[in-house]
Amino acid sequence: MKLLVTGGAGFIGSNFIRHLLREHPDDSVVNLDKLTYAGNPANLADVAGDPRYAFVQGDICDAKLVRDVARGVDAIVNLAAESHVDRSLVEPDGFLRTDVFGVFTLLEAVRDLGIPRLLHVSTDEVYGSVARGSSTERDPLRPSNPYSASKAGGDLLALSYWHTHGVPVVLTRSSNNFGPHQYPEKVVPLFITNALDDTPLPLYGDGRNVRDWLYVLDNCAAIDLVLRRGRDGEVYNIGGGHEVENIALTREILRLTGKPDTLIRPVTDRPGHDRRYSVDSTKIGQLGWAPRYPFASALETTVRWYREHETWWRPLKSGEFRAWYERQYGNR
Ligand code: NAD
Ligand code: TYD
Repeated sequence: MKLLVTGGAGFIGSNFIRHLLREHPDDSVVNLDKLTYAGNPANLADVAGDPRYAFVQGDICDAKLVRDVARGVDAIVNLAAESHVDRSLVEPDGFLRTDVFGVFTLLEAVRDLGIPRLLHVSTDEVYGSVARGSSTERDPLRPSNPYSASKAGGDLLALSYWHTHGVPVVLTRSSNNFGPHQYPEKVVPLFITNALDDTPLPLYGDGRNVRDWLYVLDNCAAIDLVLRRGRDGEVYNIGGGHEVENIALTREILRLTGKPDTLIRPVTDRPGHDRRYSVDSTKIGQLGWAPRYPFASALETTVRWYREHETWWRPLKSGEFRAWYERQYGNR
């Protein structure tokens, strides 16, 4: 396949491109990425010289550019997004722009150019908080923060293009990912790198919110499967099958970094903090997917990766991030 991956310089995108080039020797990939604070060409330094790979810096909201790079591809995989809930609470504009209008731009290109498939990557957060049980693909969307509301907007628009214009879209909604190359604003890399630096781990509220953790390479395999075997107009949940309270996750990170629990600092909760996410992954299971990486060893691998790649994360934690961290956690 000849693929256009958008947002490929981010966390999941870079892992996905590496997965594609490894698993599909005949595929080629163009990576269209705006390189926001979260996009980092260093994430793909190891494949930069591969003749099957090309990088284009640009915005998915730029209709002309999208058309230029999308012409002739077999599929687009959209991983471009503003992705951090906390940032959506203080600067939501970019979320609406990229996560809604950007999806619209891609849909229009797919429609005009007759591209055979758009796989749009979404999140379990569109279902909102689930007190009991697990969300299925048929459940109503009840997003509760500007990030998840923007993602839900993108999802609904994509599905509307299928229903009205027959535009061949397929969606994935995964649970929380962790693994190498995740920008250190998200809880797992933030807590690992803070622990390595002996600085406090800011745990929101009572620490008992639950997330279902999915190793990024399991998500990449799932996205790849849906890309090739999923049905047009359908949504596929992708859950890690490992639900854990934040406090337990935090203690595990401290154990793996060899640091004391006294580094845990309870801080004021995130406004509107969803208590629990949980998805039912039966449907993608029927395509033959199941997570392959056990949580404990995947977290250990992740901690080791951050330990061994200080040169990757330390520059990220200075510049823009330091200002964000001060604003976000300074008065908490
Ligand atoms: P990320 O923030 O690490 O990367 C996003 C990438 O998109 C960056 O490289 C950024 O430069 C690029 N980008 C942002 N706006 C752009 C624009 N307008 N045009 C082109 N490129 C742009 O995000 P991630 O964690 O890799 O998430 C990827 C996708 O997966 C997102 O759609 C997110 O909603 C979804 N998702 C993430 C998780 C998770 O746990 N990380 C879980 C479920 C779903
Ligand atoms: P996060 O990684 O931001 O992902 P999401 O909000 O998309 O699930 O947060 C995961 C969980 O960790 C969530 O319940 C909020 C919590 N959290 C903290 O307790 N402290 C932090 O500093 C961050 C960033 C998150």
